[in-house]
Amino acid sequence: MGIKKTVSVLGLGLMGSALAKALVEEGYEVTVWNRSEGKPTPANTKRVKTTAEAFKSDVVVTCLSTYDVQQPLLTNEIKTLVNLTSGTPEQARATAQWAKTNGVEYVDGVIMAVPQQIGTESARILFSGNENHYVLDAFGEPVHVGEDAGLAASYDLALLGIMWATFGGYLQAVALMGTYGIAPALFTPMAAGWLNELGAMLPEMGAVTQSRNYETDVSALDINVSGLRLLTEANSEQGLDTTIPQALHDLFERAQRSGHGAHSIASVIEEIRK
Ligand SMILES: NC(=O)c1ccc[n+]([C@@H]2O[C@H](COP(=O)([O-])OP(=O)(O)OC[C@H]3O[C@@H](n4cnc5c(N)ncnc54)[C@H](OP(=O)(O)O)[C@@H]3O)[C@@H](O)[C@H]2O)c1
Repeated sequence: MGIKKTVSVLGLGLMGSALAKALVEEGYEVTVWNRSEGKPTPANTKRVKTTAEAFKSDVVVTCLSTYDVQQPLLTNEIKTLVNLTSGTPEQARATAQWAKTNGVEYVDGVIMAVPQQIGTESARILFSGNENHYVLDAFGEPVHVGEDAGLAASYDLALLGIMWATFGGYLQAVALMGTYGIAPALFTPMAAGWLNELGAMLPEMGAVTQSRNYETDVSALDINVSGLRLLTEANSEQGLDTTIPQALHDLFERAQRSGHGAHSIASVIEEIRK
């Protein structure tokens, strides 16, 4: 077995600490740096006070809150940068370009997991650009999603967008059912089963957004706009916030006004693409 590379982790937040721990468990020699001193030092790592000391390692893993706070820290002393800070595709591409110009090996990744999953097979790490995944397999299952360095960030935000919309819809539903005296424990199994059924519909909906043939014998947009009006009214009757159902109603209604009333829900994508 060859000698393992030395690795530094910048950022000891919830995720950075989990990454450092996973690297130690994989047998790497791990150096850690964090802006403030308050955060505990993960077991069996070497804490350094300056980023320059951290940059002596073969690989530097960054996991900070945003690119804005990360960018000023980066220098061409870094040999290989594994960037796991969340950002936009444009920010990822700009950092890849910065790395190229400065002779730094670079891979851009995103973590589709919570800290408790890091180091297990259930943690999916999407990465793009450079096909070498360096130390990523210490964190979970690395999946290369394409040559463009911005693609991992694109997948990240698209998938999180589905998560946020779903969680928002679920919390709205729990609040509404709560006003009718139905506890989350009673409602949630039905909600989870419903989400599975909806997930099974996505491949067909995706195909329709490509063919743009929105003919339907299942459910027309008209009836869904009426349903969203009812949902908004019901939330309002119960004194709840209506931001989410109202926003969906307004978007779907605009698609209806553009002539998609008899078409399938998939036709709403035409309104979104505007
Ligand atoms: N937690 C998750 O479930 C999860 C999942 C997937 C991806 N991520 C991504 O992982 C990254 C880190 O998330 P996290 O949950 O670990 O966040 P966190 O617990 O809030 O930690 C944020 C880290 O950023 C550092 N930081 C903030 N501002 C800084 C500055 N101006 N200069 C230097 N360091 C600064 C903090 O240092 P201080 O201790 O000094 O404040 C801390 O180390 C984010 O990009 C997040 O989107 C997180």
